Amino acid sequence: MFSSCIFLVTSFLIILQCFHASSCDTNCPDKPVLTPSRLVVKYGDPASATCVACQKDCLPVEESVIAIEIPVGYSSTNGTTVKWKVDHLRLWDSEPKCFYTDKNDKQCCSRLSVTVYQPPESVSISLNQSGPLTEHTEYILQCSVQEVAPIQKLVVTFYKGNTQLGSMHGDSTPKKTVNKIFTWSFHTSKEDNGAQFWCDAKLELGPEGPQPPPVLKSNYLTATVHYGPLLKVSADPDPITITRGNTLNLTCLAEGNPEPSYSWTLPSNKGYHSGTSLIVQSVDYQDEGEYVCTVSSKLKTIHVKFNVQVQKNIWLYIIIATVVAVALLLTILAIFYFFYYKHNKMGKYQLKDVFRLGTVRHTAIPLSA
Ligand SMILES: *[C@@H]1O[C@H](CO)[C@@H](O)[C@H](O)[C@H]1NC(C)=O
Ligand SMILES: *[C@@H]1O[C@H](CO)[C@@H](O)[C@H](O)[C@H]1NC(C)=O
Ligand SMILES: *[C@@H]1O[C@H](CO)[C@@H](O)[C@H](O)[C@H]1NC(C)=O
Repeated sequence: MFSSCIFLVTSFLIILQCFHASSCDTNCPDKPVLTPSRLVVKYGDPASATCVACQKDCLPVEESVIAIEIPVGYSSTNGTTVKWKVDHLRLWDSEPKCFYTDKNDKQCCSRLSVTVYQPPESVSISLNQSGPLTEHTEYILQCSVQEVAPIQKLVVTFYKGNTQLGSMHGDSTPKKTVNKIFTWSFHTSKEDNGAQFWCDAKLELGPEGPQPPPVLKSNYLTATVHYGPLLKVSADPDPITITRGNTLNLTCLAEGNPEPSYSWTLPSNKGYHSGTSLIVQSVDYQDEGEYVCTVSSKLKTIHVKFNVQVQKNIWLYIIIATVVAVALLLTILAIFYFFYYKHNKMGKYQLKDVFRLGTVRHTAIPLSA
């Protein structure tokens, strides 16, 4: 075992290079103790660990080999304690161990768990399709994470606005940086028009890792969903009865993306339309009939039919009738007064006298009774 390792002595520091996987008994009773037991280091950052090789079963230091086996950095041994450090850890895959040899030249060892990480260089979101989306269709969101390690500690979350859609873990095992595309399929609805989709990538490295864990957000992807047109008025409106001379105002409103356009077919040439409204200022009998509003976009065309009936202006008749009735009443009153006046000319004076007498009598009555 010992002969297969090369020692490089640089003043009092020893760099130990091992080129084979030596047998390492991790079940021996007096195992080396590593502090920390788990290292989480960003690629290129410094790292260090201390190992106390044995507590009880130690041979005299001269007779045992005590070392930390890792191909980078410096280690120094003082008694049964080995200190290891590296200024820039640029090693993706290492399985360092601390060991000592017993009297049978067998290694008793502990492994140091090392996680070398690299937060993603970039995170971006895209769709598996360019251009506008169609309503009620399945699409795939792609979250592309570049140059991240270790991928199995990565959690990618998809969002729509502030709503979390779901997350997934990286599953492959390479320890060095990789690029990976995570996918999330979703079903479009009209509410997704204008929605912002994004993703983030988070390295969950545990309590030994950086706090808070490194997270990188993607760009925002604004979805354009084509839908509609959807009518916002009744598709089958009730028949309309309008009085002759009044203004006819028909409304035909729909929503959609792209914005629908409106056109109208009229029973007569009268009237004007401005998009969603059709106006006939003063309706006449020739304006009676079917008005058809055609709402269309490149996706769909809808027809809304309005049935308009024009009725007589009953107010005109009411006014005429009222005038006639008033005239008739006045005539009757005039005739009645004429006859009454003629027949009761004397009686009028008599009544006047009675009233005058009464007034005289009333003033004679004392008020403070
Ligand atoms: C070795 O450890 C002993 C006791 O812990 C200490 O006194 C001594 O200075 C150390 N030697 C070196 C070279 O670090
Ligand atoms: C995008 O993904 C959906 C769902 O799998 C698929 O039906 C569609 O064909 C894909 N579009 C393109 C352009 O690949
Ligand atoms: C017609 O009706 C619509 C909707 O009720 C309204 O917005 C519009 O102002 C009306 N137009 C006229 C000229 O009354």
